[in-house]
Amino acid sequence: MSRRRFSAVFRVLSPAVFATCAASGAVVFSMTATATSVAGPPLPASEPHSYANPQMLRVTGVALDLKVDFTHKRLSGSVDLQIEHRDPAARELMLDTRDLQIARVETSSDGKAWKPAAFTLGERDRVLGARLAIQTPLDAQRVRVHYQTVPEASGLQWLAPVQTAGKKQPYLFTQSQAIHARSWIPLQDTPLVRMPYTARITAPKGLRAVMSAEMQDRPGADGAWTFSMPQPIPSYLIALAVGDIAFRSTGERTGVYAEPSMLERAAYEFAETEKTMALAEALYGPYRWGRYDLLILPPSFPYGGMENPRLTFVTPSVITGDRKLVSLITHELSHSWSGNLVTNATWSDFWLNEGFTTYLTNRLNEAQFGSEFANMERVLGAQDLRKSVEQAEIADRSLLRATPAADPDEVFSSIPYERGNLFLSWLESRYGRAEFDRFVRGWFDGHAFQSATTAQFRAYLSEQLIRRLPGKASEAQVDEWMNSPELPAFALMPQSDAFTAVDAQRRQWLDGKLAIGALPAADWAVQQWQYFLDTMPATVTVAQLQALDRQFGLSRSGNQIIGSSWLRLAIARNDRSVWPAAERYLQSVGRMHLIEPVYRELSKTDDGRRYAEQVYAKARAGYHPIAQQEVQRLLGKKAS
Ligand code: BES
Ligand code: ZN
Repeated sequence: MSRRRFSAVFRVLSPAVFATCAASGAVVFSMTATATSVAGPPLPASEPHSYANPQMLRVTGVALDLKVDFTHKRLSGSVDLQIEHRDPAARELMLDTRDLQIARVETSSDGKAWKPAAFTLGERDRVLGARLAIQTPLDAQRVRVHYQTVPEASGLQWLAPVQTAGKKQPYLFTQSQAIHARSWIPLQDTPLVRMPYTARITAPKGLRAVMSAEMQDRPGADGAWTFSMPQPIPSYLIALAVGDIAFRSTGERTGVYAEPSMLERAAYEFAETEKTMALAEALYGPYRWGRYDLLILPPSFPYGGMENPRLTFVTPSVITGDRKLVSLITHELSHSWSGNLVTNATWSDFWLNEGFTTYLTNRLNEAQFGSEFANMERVLGAQDLRKSVEQAEIADRSLLRATPAADPDEVFSSIPYERGNLFLSWLESRYGRAEFDRFVRGWFDGHAFQSATTAQFRAYLSEQLIRRLPGKASEAQVDEWMNSPELPAFALMPQSDAFTAVDAQRRQWLDGKLAIGALPAADWAVQQWQYFLDTMPATVTVAQLQALDRQFGLSRSGNQIIGSSWLRLAIARNDRSVWPAAERYLQSVGRMHLIEPVYRELSKTDDGRRYAEQVYAKARAGYHPIAQQEVQRLLGKKAS
């Protein structure tokens, strides 16, 4: 790492913030590591998903002051941006916004006296939103933007009381990844820029505000909740939720936030999180964020999980009472290293976040639940990859995304997750576990609290493995992993004995040699069910499917993962008896990657598409804006 980058990291922290971090030891550790890491290519000056000009004027700190207004579905207030003049000739601070109403802008050289600043809000681009250009005098140290959000803000979901577990209070939550932070905060909305943040949130009395930051358990004397994230993070990790939220501790560093009626079940489901943290630390180094809490959201949360630092956001659908779906938490926890500590510098480098995280999750699953469990997940991942590759445009099939300017929500797929995982698993097999574990840990230590590109990863890989231990992997092979739309022929594909057993049992049942009641399905893991349904031969008959449903109650499954696989299969095989179940499912599940395949299967026939459209018309109001956009795209409707 060059001296320049080292001091740049230092400058990002304000003296006060630095003192806090130094006291906790967190950043001091990364400083030491940074100084000893290898040199690599520099970060790019800008990237296609942001209007920001951080190489000229850079935001180095964010202080939010927002009021939450449920009546008008509006956040209003101001953001104070601490700025650093990197190029003394630069006079315009460029920020990202989407559908924000900007009231006025001020600048200050000392944080006390404020002067009005001229600004222009550019035209709205469908993907990027609108550029906010602010005239910034050379002596300005801070820029304050007074603004409010619109009710349709893409990164916010405002829930009516009926959409919550308690049914009495409204609820608000944010989802900033990939480029939705700009719909609720004007800032440099790019993972190239990292900054600490503070926030003051005024919420209606009786509701609690939580954020991806250090928090207090009660509001201040003025009724406002205050927060501080002392470590520098990218904008997509700034997160807020407001509602009837309570807390229960589950370990020394862990706990759950949820609506009161969910709290006990959540605390039981996730009681082992502290154990998983210890396993992760043994492999990948200290957890550097202090606490690790979970926030259980209402069902409309559009993802399975979101790795907001210190406070992972989780779908309530993983609370099944049997702790069988906790590997989702392992995934989000793993992002505390891959993603939050070392962050993809641009959205083309997304595999650095998700491919690493998928690899780490499999390793931790193996340590916690054994290799049988981990291998099932690996095989299902490889299967997802195959499906995603079929559905993706050629240019979006490689690890390094070839259409960098596309809407990240539109090109989202399993490819960065699973191809990234296969790539890292292949490297592991070439160099052996001990060597590869050291390599991965060195990557995290050497780039802690920094954003990194694929080019930087490759420089590190070349130096630390390819050149140091010759004859095991070549640059040409790595090129193929990065750039080819196809999986390299030399990739190692995972195997699962537990699935081989399912194959044999299913074959016997389909051939009429085994009665349905004799399938040992009661002992199957969730993953075996998924495999059984997802890889069902096309020759299965509607009568056989209906018998399955009668026997195992699949249309009423309480497990949403099994539910999604079942509905997909039955719809694809033209079993219309499941349509009402599909309607119920689509009206009660908000997790985008589970409902999307059901809509996709329905819309393959004319009747099915009409049905899907009717269902969507009813379900739409309950979906998150990002999920609405996704389903609309799939049904061929114009996106807003
Ligand atoms: N960071 C992602 C979610 C995400 C990705 C949100 C891109 C917005 C844009 C999160 O860590 C994730 O991958 N969630 C998965 C979990 C699964 C792979 C275990 C999900 O939500 O399904
Ligand atoms: Zn992830």
